[in-house]
Amino acid sequence: MLQLWWLNPEKVRETEATLALLTPEERAQHLRFIPPIKRHEYLVTRVLLKTILGRTLGIPKEAVQFATNPWGRPELSPPSPLRFNVTHTEGLIALLLSDQHEVGTDTERSSRAPRLLALAPNVFAPAELSDLAALPTGQRAHRALTLWTLKESYIKARGMGLALALDGFAFRFDAHGGIRLEVEPRLDDDGARWQFETRTHGEHQLSTAIRADARVEPTVHEALLD
Ligand SMILES: CC(C)(COP(=O)(O)OP(=O)(O)OC[C@H]1O[C@@H](n2cnc3c(N)ncnc32)[C@H](O)[C@@H]1OP(=O)(O)O)[C@@H](O)C(=O)NCCC(=O)NCCS
Repeated sequence: MLQLWWLNPEKVRETEATLALLTPEERAQHLRFIPPIKRHEYLVTRVLLKTILGRTLGIPKEAVQFATNPWGRPELSPPSPLRFNVTHTEGLIALLLSDQHEVGTDTERSSRAPRLLALAPNVFAPAELSDLAALPTGQRAHRALTLWTLKESYIKARGMGLALALDGFAFRFDAHGGIRLEVEPRLDDDGARWQFETRTHGEHQLSTAIRADARVEPTVHEALLD
């Protein structure tokens, strides 16, 4: 099983029932967000996770509990073979879920592309920077957006977040849209064992990283929260 769930947080209302799904620690975290849009994003992300994970595990959503790994990735508690990763930004929350593959996902608003291009020298690997420089100027911002979301989906699938050196691995593209990962030995991984996809989803770019030896494709679902 490999599923990609998405929803627009702006379409979900804050109600007593959604707030009641938060644990006391999550309620405290919820209140720490000052911009209302970020606070709402936090709430809807937790509701999405608990709803989909609860349905998949066959338990009430209220019973879904999390622990975090040493780098902050939420995991199910008690431990479960179910692997998941979530990403959220203004207008889109996405959850990638599998019962057999390590997964990571990342989204950014497409309007951030010029900003990510400006950040490129600080965050991309040498091979990515030379590929970027070889592109026509008009294609570079979109490539930077794609690279950034792919890189984040990979560091999230590894569970290590920004503890993984961003210049230690490079995404390369072939003429047919194929995506290949090259990893330096210091990062202790084999890029050939991963599959990557990137797609435009409305006003967002959404990328996924899936560790799988054979070709796999997530089923895509809009999440309807009850
Ligand atoms: C993992 C990380 C790179 C994702 O950040 P992001 O792109 O801004 O945010 P996304 O919306 O795509 O993902 C956030 C979600 O990823 C998950 N996540 C958190 N740490 C994670 C990790 N180490 N691995 C995988 N997933 C992680 C959480 O579910 C988080 O949701 P939450 O914010 O509701 O808790 C970032 O959270 C991270 O590395 N944090 C560590 C702290 C750090 O190094 N901060 C420096 C910032 S420059």
